Amino acid sequence: MTINLILPHGGKLINKFIERKYEDLETFEVSSDTRNDAENIATGVFSPLEGFMIEDDFLTVLKDGRLSNSIPWTIPIVLDKEKEIAMQMKDLRDVVLCSGNEKFGILHVEDIYRYNKENVANAVYRTTDVNHPAVNRLFQMKEFLVGGGLEVFRMIGNDEMQKFRLHPSETRSEITKRGWKTVVGFQTRNVPHVAHEMLQKAALNIYDGLFINPLIGKKKRGDFTDSLIINTYESLIMNYFPKNRVLFSTIHTTMRYAGPREAIHHAIMRKNFGCTHFIVGRDHAGVGNYYPPFAAQEIFNEYPDLDIKPVTFPSFYFCKKCLSYANEKICPHGVESKEELSGTMIRKLVNSGKVPEKHMMRPEVSDLILKSQKPFVGDKT
Ligand code: ADX
Repeated sequence: MTINLILPHGGKLINKFIERKYEDLETFEVSSDTRNDAENIATGVFSPLEGFMIEDDFLTVLKDGRLSNSIPWTIPIVLDKEKEIAMQMKDLRDVVLCSGNEKFGILHVEDIYRYNKENVANAVYRTTDVNHPAVNRLFQMKEFLVGGGLEVFRMIGNDEMQKFRLHPSETRSEITKRGWKTVVGFQTRNVPHVAHEMLQKAALNIYDGLFINPLIGKKKRGDFTDSLIINTYESLIMNYFPKNRVLFSTIHTTMRYAGPREAIHHAIMRKNFGCTHFIVGRDHAGVGNYYPPFAAQEIFNEYPDLDIKPVTFPSFYFCKKCLSYANEKICPHGVESKEELSGTMIRKLVNSGKVPEKHMMRPEVSDLILKSQKPFVGDKT
């Protein structure tokens, strides 16, 4: 059987990983998040990007949610620096990037530019409120952006967090090997509760394979830690999923909490991994009350050319009369029989030391959370 995998975003999978080293060039330090994104560029997770954005692309991304060649793209992928350093990088043109004293890539600087943070906040996050975690981060960024093509010559080493990481070329060959014609991607930043599992299984009723792809990387205080997310998913899949229908891998990038715009970004990355479909439920990539609960589904109407298709779900709750997970499309019962389920609710239960009931969270998952010394980002051990 021949499988015609979905084409990567922009038509071809970017590969900017090179063997050659340029260690003798002047070196500039970047954060580990920037290094993750450099790898996402190099391995094609961010195809068609070939480097950090130059001003032309940056401005059309803000204004239209598209690159300057009109390919859909909603989140700026940028490298920020102080003015003097940006100017020095521009003069040198080819510079080495390092993170934590490890040299890993070369940036061919094409463009340095100032930007207006309020404009970015309004365009990407729909708010300038500094209580929004990513707006807060944005207002702490340096005043210049440095754009240009990128090559990576050393990948992040193998640690515990990397053990499930797969690059798009690897997920694509795995999908081909498994013969899946349709693959539905699932983004998460949470430990799995049963509503998540029901969304995944509802989709798995229809599509050939499920790609569970938790986001590992910078998150806000109070989110679950990366290691707990990985461990709980390992256990959930082992105990509750047919293994031959699930592909599990982590994606390493910053959580931006940009709601609708981030939903498009999440879908694009999963398209690059080979997904034909992408699950978007209630308040996807949301935080607080910044976005209406279904705005992240509606934005897909503005992107008929995205190719990967959203699989949208209403809000799932447990219905005590239906005795199952349900939603307003399929259940006639009133509020008195509904048990809402969200990451926030699970966090509250864990904080109060209570074990979530079995119909809310699988006991194998609750056990791991309750045993964890440090379940949340920002906790002290
Ligand atoms: S997210 O920030 O990564 O979107 P989370 O991990 O909680 O947060 O959600 C993963 C996916 O499940 C998202 O598409 C989200 O909309 C969806 N989702 C989570 N809980 C529910 C629910 N109760 N009903 C419908 N969709 C949900």
